[in-house]
Amino acid sequence: MSASEKIENIQKTYKSEIGSATNNPEKLKELYIKFLGRKGLVADLYSELALLPNDQKPIFGQKINKLKIDIQNAFDKVEVSESGKDKNIGFDYSLPGNDFFQGSIHPITKVLDDISNIFKSIGFSIFSGNEIEDEFYNFEALNIPKYHPARDMQDTYYLNANKLLRTHTSASQIHFMENNKPPVKIISPGRVYRNEDISVRSYCLFHQIEGLYVDKNVSFADLKGVMEFFSKKYFGEDVKVRFRPSYFPFTEPSAEMDIYWGLESESDYRITKGTGWLEILGCGMVDPEVFKSVNYDSSLTGYAFGIGIERIAMLKYGITDIRLLYEGDIRFLRQF
Ligand code: DAH
Repeated sequence: MSASEKIENIQKTYKSEIGSATNNPEKLKELYIKFLGRKGLVADLYSELALLPNDQKPIFGQKINKLKIDIQNAFDKVEVSESGKDKNIGFDYSLPGNDFFQGSIHPITKVLDDISNIFKSIGFSIFSGNEIEDEFYNFEALNIPKYHPARDMQDTYYLNANKLLRTHTSASQIHFMENNKPPVKIISPGRVYRNEDISVRSYCLFHQIEGLYVDKNVSFADLKGVMEFFSKKYFGEDVKVRFRPSYFPFTEPSAEMDIYWGLESESDYRITKGTGWLEILGCGMVDPEVFKSVNYDSSLTGYAFGIGIERIAMLKYGITDIRLLYEGDIRFLRQF
């Protein structure tokens, strides 16, 4: 049979053959292979084309090309009348699907959210401060004047002579009081930066939640009550907490709060330095000097606190290297 006879034959039959396979995906697949498959009739025509004398090649080439398109169109039409599942003729339904990964909440975000929600439930509102600060907000207004040794507690990244990356969220206290009248009842979560050597335990940035409550007749007992409430809600009703006297320039008196972590395993000894207790926050009664710097009345009283988020996240999720929290390694993040 000559090449042109073959073309004519296919032209006569393909429409009715393909049409007869409507709603029969198996049959359609078979026909697709028969006409358009790698060893199908059309492919066969192309191999014959190669054997034709050169002057006939363009005419036959065009005919075959047209035939191929017509056949493809015929398949496409059948597909339209098919139910959705049979749409892809020539598609291998047994191929495995593409993997897809659902994102997850970063452990730091989770701890920030969970703790924020506890304070929101007792009437604290959220206030966001700035990561870039003036010395005034980060230090001076918090009763840490230039050359005060407390500045050494927080190795600071300076951007220029006056601008710096905040070393603690306490700077938010000043911004809020500057722009709002008392009473104040806020928390301010966010990122802080310190120029520390990077190791399993410390990083150049971390997160804190600052708290500030200012009103008339606020007492240290109020502070203790709220800290205990938060600890029970977050760590469970049985949690044991203790307050130790401490020093911060912006609170007087100042304290640190520990929770009892236990001494059951070798790692408990390591994390708690053999005491079983773990420091999770600093707090105290707002120093009158701080009220002065924001022009608040000296008859006011208030408490403030600063919770370290990374340590809590590491304990809660058993993370032993702080750097994992910032590297964005998908193998780590996928576990949450
Ligand atoms: N700003 C302190 C720090 O980063 C933490 C802190 C301590 C915050 C006592 C407070 C506070 O509000 O009252 O080390």
